[in-house]
Amino acid sequence: MGGSVQSEVSELSFVGIGDKRGELVALESNKNVPFDIKRVYYMYQISKGAERGFHAHIKLKQVAVCVSGSCTIEVEYVDGKSSFLLDSPDKGIYMGGLVWREIKNCSDDCVLMVLADELYSEDDYIRQYSEFKQHLPQLNVSVENGD
Ligand code: TYD
Repeated sequence: MGGSVQSEVSELSFVGIGDKRGELVALESNKNVPFDIKRVYYMYQISKGAERGFHAHIKLKQVAVCVSGSCTIEVEYVDGKSSFLLDSPDKGIYMGGLVWREIKNCSDDCVLMVLADELYSEDDYIRQYSEFKQHLPQLNVSVENGD
């Protein structure tokens, strides 16, 4: 069984405050972002065809939002594999704990912003896929013993 290992992914949809001047989205700790925001970083001018990520985190919680352009985030976590198209600033993806992520198909104008609940720490990274697979609890195939 997985014990206390966290491995969660969910799609987020942000409500824009729009008027005739345009759109505005506010991201707030523990409101539409499910943690205390401690770090914000963003990737831009992503080289044509470049793929990023290819790592998991042990504990870090993150929300990724494509604030310009589009990209695909492929994830693998305790519930299996999923692919998310981030193509609007009012969409996000939440990744909590043990989630392998691969960022692909970035458009020329892609700006991928990531909010995180901790400062940067290389110690929280798992960069080898084989190591990630060893950490991943097989919660979905576990069989409860009757008594
Ligand atoms: P990394 O997380 O490996 O990027 P990607 O997910 O695109 O593969 O980070 C790239 C480099 O930037 C790496 O040397 C670590 C450094 N970095 C920081 O110094 N601070 C940060 O907050 C992040 C996310 C990365």
